[in-house]
Amino acid sequence: MKASLSDTVRMSLALARSALLAPRPFLLYLKPTARCDLRCAICNRWKESSSTEEELSLDEIKRVLAKFRAAGAEIVTLWGGEPTLRRDLPEILAEAKRLGMRTSMCTNCNSLAKKADAVLPNLDTLLCSLDGYGETHDAQRGVPGLFDRVLAALGEAKRFPHLRLKIWATVHTRNAGQQERLAQLAREHGAWIEFFPVSRIPGYNNATVPDAAMLAEVFAEVARLKRAGYPVWNADRVIDKMARNAPFRCNFGHASIHMDHKGTVYSCEDPAGTPIHVWGPLAGIDLEELYASAEFKAVAKRLESCGRCRLPCVVELADNLTADLGSMFLQSLTR
Ligand SMILES: C[S@@+](CC[C@H](N)C(=O)[O-])C[C@H]1O[C@@H](n2cnc3c(N)ncnc32)[C@H](O)[C@@H]1O
Ligand code: SF4
Ligand code: SF4
Repeated sequence: MKASLSDTVRMSLALARSALLAPRPFLLYLKPTARCDLRCAICNRWKESSSTEEELSLDEIKRVLAKFRAAGAEIVTLWGGEPTLRRDLPEILAEAKRLGMRTSMCTNCNSLAKKADAVLPNLDTLLCSLDGYGETHDAQRGVPGLFDRVLAALGEAKRFPHLRLKIWATVHTRNAGQQERLAQLAREHGAWIEFFPVSRIPGYNNATVPDAAMLAEVFAEVARLKRAGYPVWNADRVIDKMARNAPFRCNFGHASIHMDHKGTVYSCEDPAGTPIHVWGPLAGIDLEELYASAEFKAVAKRLESCGRCRLPCVVELADNLTADLGSMFLQSLTR
């Protein structure tokens, strides 16, 4: 469950570089597919019609990874859609590792347990999505038995001690009061748990979005669980921002770059998965030139006040990165 010291030092250096020196995105968010096998109440991406035909091939993804790596990407996070639906996922991860990247993947765990031996050896961080305990999770994701499959995936993941295992636990109107049971579940599975609120997708998930009072209550509980020794990953300053529903300066336009399953590069996307600023197909882009351009910097600056999501990785890197670097480094040593 612990990050190695060399990982920690490497990530801190990447952060320092991004914050202080030559700012360029060191986080690559890559969608190997937009296909999805669930019907979640919080997320409408399953409605996007998508097929394998429109996806980049394995060779194309290998070239993409090399290009982003050469332009400074340190960490690749695979998401989507549901990344485990890609048959060549093990090869994609192996290539990212061969290039010296740290690998992370966010998954619904619907089919991960049976693919664990192929997928997990080249994965550094596994983010398992959980929308509630037991039947709450199944109801939210539209598939009976899914909660048990998440537990099975966590059980398989335990066989890979190199893996940093995190439960990504959404906070929404239908799971208030379940946080301690979820934190207990994380403890039992040797996993971290990271809580974050569902973001609004207008016209789709309004009924699930927590209001300010609920956020204050739930994140006070998250703070209590952390103090009580549960393996809560959220940094204290993140819990505080989430509890206060506080606006934050988003640094993701500076620190991250996104690419979809068709090879389109963009700066970020809203909670519905709609790109916020599209740069075009990677094939026609010189990344060094793009990152150095006034337009890229202007878009990143504009996104600082976006506030459309509160994903935990986003809030962790929010506001004054330089001021927070020391505490982030110290905290990472204990994780
Ligand atoms: C879009 S999903 C893609 C990866 C994968 N299909 C999964 O479910 O984990 C990535 C993460 O976004 C979260 N998510 C989806 N819709 C959200 C929303 N409206 N607000 C906040 N998080 C959301 C999911 O719970 C998941 O942890
Ligand atoms: S959260 Fe993941 S599994 Fe659920 S609809 Fe969105 S992409 Fe699909
Ligand atoms: S707040 Fe906006 S710019 Fe920042 S990560 Fe979320 S959607 Fe992207």
